[in-house]
Amino acid sequence: MEKIVILTGAGISAESGLSTFRDEGGLWAQHRIEEVATPEGFARNPALVQGFYNARRTQAAGVEPNAAHKALARLQRGWPGEVVIVTQNVDSLHEAGGARNVIHMHGTLAGALCSACGHRWIAPPEMAVGEPCPSCNRPTARPDVVWFGEMPYHMDEIYDHLASASLFAAIGTSGQVYPAAAFVHEAQAAGAQTVEINLEPTLGATGFDTYILGKASETVPHWVEQLLARPS
Ligand code: OAD
Repeated sequence: MEKIVILTGAGISAESGLSTFRDEGGLWAQHRIEEVATPEGFARNPALVQGFYNARRTQAAGVEPNAAHKALARLQRGWPGEVVIVTQNVDSLHEAGGARNVIHMHGTLAGALCSACGHRWIAPPEMAVGEPCPSCNRPTARPDVVWFGEMPYHMDEIYDHLASASLFAAIGTSGQVYPAAAFVHEAQAAGAQTVEINLEPTLGATGFDTYILGKASETVPHWVEQLLARPS
């Protein structure tokens, strides 16, 4: 049965009210990546970094999944084959929209990680600087998100899925951050059809077989209905 692998980015959560990174007024226009999204930045100024992620955790807790998140969950329920959702997003809106087994390659705001012993636990709404790890008791708690210079999570599993995909879709991602930006080539090498669904054509749009332009809350439900109506 045909496997669909879907990569999502900040654009799918934009209409829920969460900021993207590279759009005008996005997070990287307001914060320096080196300061808030690198291990070096955290070592230099943990209060700044915890504050940045605390604010994002609070913001994410106050928003709802939109029609695009819900449509992907519907695809998972209705498609006769496997539908794998890989997200670069650290929010939990896919899960809130009903999706299952979402692969969070850049981690999640819901999680805390001990940078000393690797223990993971559920993050409190506000993480404090020097908060002790519940396992080793050292003051080394950090958000369980992947920073620049760190290896994204679950890469072996993701490459296995890409190698057996029949259809690959990238939704709401600018395709500027690797390794996710290269998934389209992995999928193509495996013989998959590829589609980009985005508000505007990205720099890598020509690397896809087809692309669909528009707001995710409109384009994704339409794309899902078409797939589910396809004769199997
Ligand atoms: P970006 O902010 O780079 O890209 C968001 C994309 O979504 C852009 O191409 C927008 O045009 C598009 N977009 C915006 N609103 C949309 C809408 N309503 N419907 C459809 N598309 C829309 O975000 P990502 O590609 O997710 O990593 O960024 C990738 C990674 O860079 C993030 O996971 C994060 C960031 O630095 C880390 O922090 C490690």
